[in-house]
Amino acid sequence: MITTKACGVGFDDLVKSDSRHSLVLMIMIKACGVGFDTLVKPLPPPAGGPMKIRQEHPQDYPEVYNLVKTAFDSNPKTDGTVPDYLNGLRTKDTFIPKLSLVAQHENGQIVGQVVLYKTEITTAEKTLTQLVLSPISVHPAHFRKGIARTMMERAFEIAQDLGYTAVFLCGNPDFYRKIGFAPTHEFGIYHINDKDKNAEWCMVRELTKGALSNISGTINIE
Ligand SMILES: CC(C)(COP(=O)(O)OP(=O)(O)OC[C@H]1O[C@@H](n2cnc3c(N)ncnc32)[C@H](O)[C@@H]1OP(=O)(O)O)[C@@H](O)C(=O)NCCC(=O)NCCS
Repeated sequence: MITTKACGVGFDDLVKSDSRHSLVLMIMIKACGVGFDTLVKPLPPPAGGPMKIRQEHPQDYPEVYNLVKTAFDSNPKTDGTVPDYLNGLRTKDTFIPKLSLVAQHENGQIVGQVVLYKTEITTAEKTLTQLVLSPISVHPAHFRKGIARTMMERAFEIAQDLGYTAVFLCGNPDFYRKIGFAPTHEFGIYHINDKDKNAEWCMVRELTKGALSNISGTINIE
């Protein structure tokens, strides 16, 4: 489009013209140093590549188990228990099937997964139900393509539709800050193991701005 416009020819002219005019236009396009293929080439795939983000189904569990194992084997800070932790998570009443998502490549392979499940924040006055994000995995062959970010943003949209207003997690602050998470101590919420009340690894992202205003409490998550 930019090229045809730069040549003084609009796209409308191109599609409305009869075959004789099309020939002339094609010659003009060639003369501008650009092939027709260039003009009709599809846009590059969105960040994350040609992936579909969808709800995880029970038939995915064995493939997801292997994916989680492969992904976490690349993280030296973990102890190999995450795939079984996820299997256990799916049997609890805190599990929300709509918030267990996978990223499926167009070749059918599952290359990412994320789970948000219910947790409780204990305040002096009451107990509030919110969400924990854990685990999240991307196949190492697809790291840094935006798959984790895309899965999380989709999960947060669904969570908001379900009425949740905040997502907590324990994890690498360098990574999660990029996704809009901040340490929970900034909101007056402390992990039960955070004796100094300054842990950077216990984090939260408000799904609704101000959701955590006027709340002070503790959280016990893995
Ligand atoms: C962590 C993990 C889920 C990231 O997946 P990913 O699809 O590569 O992440 P994205 O491509 O969506 O990255 C989003 C942003 O975070 C950055 N990022 C990705 N991995 C990062 C890391 N380990 N440390 C710091 N930043 C990281 C990306 O560069 C990108 O930043 P940008 O938007 O400024 O460019 C993936 O590396 C993984 O599965 N690791 C093994 C399992 C694991 O450790 N899970 C998380 C436990 S806390």
